Amino acid sequence: MSTFKAPKGTYDLLPPDSARYLAVREAIAAPLRGSGYGYIETPGFESVELFARGVGESTDIVTKEMYAFETKGGDRLALRPEGTASVLRAALEANLHKAGNLPVKLWYSGSYYRYERPQKGRYRHFSQVGAEAIGAEDPALDAELIILADQAYRSLGLRNFRILLNSLGDKECRPVYRAALQDFLRGLDLDEDTLRRAEINPLRVLDDKRESVQKQLTGAPLLRDHLCDACKAYHEEVRELVTAAGVVFEDDPRLVRGLDYYTRTTFEFVHDGLGSQSAVGGGGRYDGLSEMIGGPALPSVGWALGVDRTVLALEAEGVELELPAATSVFAVPLGDEARRVLFAKVTELRKNGVAADFAYGGKGLKAAMKAANRSGARYALILGERDIEEGVIQLKDLESGEQTAVGVNEVVAELESRLG
Ligand code: HAM
Repeated sequence: MSTFKAPKGTYDLLPPDSARYLAVREAIAAPLRGSGYGYIETPGFESVELFARGVGESTDIVTKEMYAFETKGGDRLALRPEGTASVLRAALEANLHKAGNLPVKLWYSGSYYRYERPQKGRYRHFSQVGAEAIGAEDPALDAELIILADQAYRSLGLRNFRILLNSLGDKECRPVYRAALQDFLRGLDLDEDTLRRAEINPLRVLDDKRESVQKQLTGAPLLRDHLCDACKAYHEEVRELVTAAGVVFEDDPRLVRGLDYYTRTTFEFVHDGLGSQSAVGGGGRYDGLSEMIGGPALPSVGWALGVDRTVLALEAEGVELELPAATSVFAVPLGDEARRVLFAKVTELRKNGVAADFAYGGKGLKAAMKAANRSGARYALILGERDIEEGVIQLKDLESGEQTAVGVNEVVAELESRLG
């Protein structure tokens, strides 16, 4: 062991477990690719100001959790704590919204960083796959995203997740509600920190996890009862479209998200097998974000699903993903001449698209066969001195144990036909 360890709140993805992470990313991306979303990558860091303005000056993410630093050149940058602000920044910078084809639909996959208190399911480096649909106000778009996330989770075999849905109103009705909530909160017995939060961002108080606070919130006014007619109609349409698609959700009038840019539709995917870090994904509409970062009005909606927590949710449900074996054929040479012949066969197999591996390091038969079995390969190719004289290679089916001698020049075609 070296003297170094992965930093606190981080962990390494190692085989064979890492294959599950790749499969989860792939399963989330697949329905997006099939629905007109194009792949986008943005830098791992951005200007601090982008997140301060986008995610919100008073959010925990910006005030407590950002990895912010000053570069040698004097720029104030931060490791990205989330993807939405960056993706919108990139779309605006490249004028994607002016190409005359709205909404601009983008998906991404990557690492995000938050200086949080680490615990199971909560890390300082984590991984998300996300989707953003930029520049259209259409309840069908909100519904599409909710349906695609549901499809992604179901394709993985997840069952015990729930979809929580709410509307946070818009710039017409939210301020009215905010004032009503503030009035209510001022009358409660709250600590100083919470009272301060009530003044800056009263909706966040609804999200307070402490029971002493939750008890007092029983009679709090709900945004649901303050929505303007336009927001009400919009939300009703989203609900109907999602329901018509056969996707079950729960109305959660208390759902507030930890980022300030949300308007109207907000949702969270929670899994009941995960304890306190139960949100496997979340998102919503952010109609004002573009203007908040200096762009034109571009109503948009998106989500991000947490890869780490999705893997934990699969574990909690005992779902075993069907992962194809990484290697189909494993070559076992016995001697120098056999090594040259089999190495050439392995190269040829790989060129033909057959996943093949090789017993390196001059292993004896026993150790090499052990490596073959460990590789998960269906077939082993074994070549000894007598085989070379006879012009054959032993082809062993590692599932049935059956072994046949195949001509050196026929073996690649034989394997291709057996592997379909
Ligand atoms: P978020 O709810 O902050 O939303 O994060 C989305 C998901 O990322 C969470 O549900 C969770 O699964 C995962 N996640 C967040 N923090 C951590 C952590 N410390 N450790 C492990 N997993 C974590 C957003 O990030 C928004 N950008 C989503 C969005 C896209 N809204 C609109 N478009």
